[in-house]
Amino acid sequence: MHIVHTIADLRQQLAAYQRPAFVPTMGNLHDGHIALVKQARAMGDVTVSSIFVNRLQFAPHEDFDSYPRTLDADAERLKEAGCNVLFAPREKELYPEPQTYKVHPASELSDILEGHFRPGFFIGVSTVVLKLFSCVFAGKPEGVAAFGKKDYQQVMVVRRMVQQFALPIEIVGGETQRAADGLALSSRNSYLSPAERLEAVQLSKALQALGEAARKAGVADLPALEAKAMQALARRGWKPDYLTVRRRTDLLTPQNEPLGSHPLVVLGAAKLGMTRLIDNIEI
Ligand code: PAF
Repeated sequence: MHIVHTIADLRQQLAAYQRPAFVPTMGNLHDGHIALVKQARAMGDVTVSSIFVNRLQFAPHEDFDSYPRTLDADAERLKEAGCNVLFAPREKELYPEPQTYKVHPASELSDILEGHFRPGFFIGVSTVVLKLFSCVFAGKPEGVAAFGKKDYQQVMVVRRMVQQFALPIEIVGGETQRAADGLALSSRNSYLSPAERLEAVQLSKALQALGEAARKAGVADLPALEAKAMQALARRGWKPDYLTVRRRTDLLTPQNEPLGSHPLVVLGAAKLGMTRLIDNIEI
């Protein structure tokens, strides 16, 4: 595996290839990332991953400084997984000057849920993803990029961006990888204390229970069911931002539609101690 730190070196490594398969990450890799890399390997003629903790997608009070940076261990895991090129730019390489041109994704998709609780988050994500795409795919006839479905809304925002800018890049969503107890794998799980780690699985359990309740009661009762699900988590000491059932196609609330007329997803975000976790389950 070649490790490169500059855009010029990255493009040189990729020069001979026609269809890169790309897995962008912020590092501190877990089995979810590795599954994406293995999935990507079958989809392109060269497999590329990036590690870059993107300041633009963190609010000032968030964990940019403390975000775990584990480049050597990550490089080892990527090599084992069969990645061919690792792009690990320093901040000055990707942002040599303040990034004043930014991508503002459609607000109906990016100002709800995560975008509501983390204003500007999807501007930061879209901007860095477009820039990384330009580093990896410029001049290529086509490419493919894989993103984990744990960040469900992110996959949708990126997919819409690719459509809107007519980029010849296929966006693939990889299934969420879970620990044995059902907790969705996330780099931020490393922030949890042992007691919090035991409790953390309750988020996915709450989403499952909400999905089941919605299936039984129908969408007319959703606001009450969602409120009940949030109260139940809050009673366990969590601070829920949202637990909600949405349409998979546009993340809007189903309205008086017969259940089953739209595929649905149950999404949730909640803070346990100092750690904010997100998860979702397609139903
Ligand atoms: O999901 C992530 O790790 C990040 O949001 C991404 C897509 C690498 C952009 O920084």
